[in-house]
Amino acid sequence: VTVSPSTSPRVAVVLGSARRASLNRRLAVDVAARLGERGVSAEVVDLGDYALPIYHGDDEALHGPPPAAVALHERLAAMDGVIFVSPEYNGSLPGLLKNAIDWVSRVDRSTFHRWLVGFAATSPGTRGARNVLSAMRHIADHMRLATIPVDLSVAHGGEAFDDGDPNRLSRPDVVAAADEFIDGYVAALDDWVANGRDARHR
Ligand SMILES: Cc1cc2nc3c(=O)[nH]c(=O)nc-3n(C[C@H](O)[C@H](O)[C@H](O)COP(=O)(O)O)c2cc1C
Repeated sequence: VTVSPSTSPRVAVVLGSARRASLNRRLAVDVAARLGERGVSAEVVDLGDYALPIYHGDDEALHGPPPAAVALHERLAAMDGVIFVSPEYNGSLPGLLKNAIDWVSRVDRSTFHRWLVGFAATSPGTRGARNVLSAMRHIADHMRLATIPVDLSVAHGGEAFDDGDPNRLSRPDVVAAADEFIDGYVAALDDWVANGRDARHR
């Protein structure tokens, strides 16, 4: 009897801020590390690495999706799951993230249906970027994606991380929330992979 080697599930942590000192970048690195500690192969996807023009239907009709959109799609198409980690801009998604979602959906919308999707966000304020979490969930519901029910919201993001390791959450309430979020995501991801990862019939 040959048993094929089991491979770890793969998750992209897609970051909605290109800012070097971004709080959400620090959260994305923490989320990826917590996934890794649970046997998931996780990588942070920095949208700043992809020079995507603003979506324009005429450009698309003339030239098709730009190379950066094809490259981003190809990277994400290899994933079993995606966790979006994004700042809130005026109560919603930054254009950087929405534009990337729009372009990738134009390369192949069906790719989104092979991911288990989760959402995390932080802001410096008291509200923990809850509006962008619901805005991202609105998009996911519209696209009929497979999502986990719990989001991770980190309020007062400027005071949530470890002084010694700026990419690691340290405030106890936030660490507990992050572990609960990641544990729920990883349990759902195991089911998602075992059941053939397909949200098309939802
Ligand atoms: C255009 C713009 C709009 C913003 N709107 C909001 C908002 O609606 N709610 C909020 O909590 N913070 C808002 N902020 C503040 C961001 O939460 C803050 O700049 C945060 O640090 C950005 O995320 P980052 O650190 O990951 O880059 C806004 C910032 C910008 C630049």
